[in-house]
Amino acid sequence: APERQTLTERAAELLKAHNAVLVAHYYVDGPLQDLALATGGIVSDSLEMARFGRDHAAQTLVVAGVRFMGETAKILSPEKRVLMPDLDATCSLDLGCPADDFAAFCDAHPDRQVVVYANTSAAVKARADWMVTSSCALEIVADLHAKGQKILWAPDRHLGRYIQEQTGADMLMWNGACIVHDEFKGLELELLREQHPNAQILVHPESPKSVVDMAHVVGSTSALIKAVVEGTAQEYIVATDNGILHRMRQLAPHKTLIEAPTAGNSATCKSCAHCPWMAMNGLLNLVQCLERGAPEIHVDEPTRVKAQRCINRMLDFTA
Ligand code: 13P
Ligand code: SF4
Repeated sequence: APERQTLTERAAELLKAHNAVLVAHYYVDGPLQDLALATGGIVSDSLEMARFGRDHAAQTLVVAGVRFMGETAKILSPEKRVLMPDLDATCSLDLGCPADDFAAFCDAHPDRQVVVYANTSAAVKARADWMVTSSCALEIVADLHAKGQKILWAPDRHLGRYIQEQTGADMLMWNGACIVHDEFKGLELELLREQHPNAQILVHPESPKSVVDMAHVVGSTSALIKAVVEGTAQEYIVATDNGILHRMRQLAPHKTLIEAPTAGNSATCKSCAHCPWMAMNGLLNLVQCLERGAPEIHVDEPTRVKAQRCINRMLDFTA
């Protein structure tokens, strides 16, 4: 539509004028992903978004994703201006892990290494020894376990359980979940698999055990994209936010992508898998945020300094 084109062009112009770079997650709308790539930015998973923002020379980072991604960018680059189209774009994992309750949990278990998922507030990260994302959580916990460490894990219980099963680590868990991935259903997936016996099943580890257990590949958003691009199968059943299909289709146009089922009655809801907070990012509020220089992410300095340590540990580990 011409209107969309105008907004895209305007956004590109503003990015250039403000020496700004767009850092987008795979779950945001396709036009934002395309704009990021066309203007020298990135569309990626949460680990690479963090690294890219830190290493890029631009003075302004515009993060199209959810709040913890903007906060992570600011924690790593306090000298840069970090803008987001909508600061209300949060995450059920972040909301479900308030910093005070989390601190009390940590206080009660001082003998454990505190490992938190990226999907948490800056205040929670400030209390952690390690931050991990879904693309490095397994390796980092395996390493800690090999060194004899016991772990306190927060907040995603499904990812925690998956890592615990894979590594055998001693993990005490917070009880959080992603409202999107928590909805994928094992039984319905089994029926779908019967209809598509040759399909590869790709699952993000924030999904329930019944779904993860059926996966050919379990991994972060970038790992799932890689599985489609490099896989020899023709069909793929994808159990993660359906925003990812945009990039998968671009990179593997001849492959068949099928969304994994999310609701008990799959006749009425074949897939509802889209994060409402990721969906708050659009071209219009992107343009507005560039025009106004707001909303901007701020993290208070004592919290930032503490939170930076656990993120840097992860970045060094995965370098
Ligand atoms: P990835 O790190 O796999 O991109 O997943 C993060 C996430 O859940 C974003 O919502
Ligand atoms: Fe959080 Fe889930 Fe949305 Fe990712 S998809 S931002 S984990 S609620």
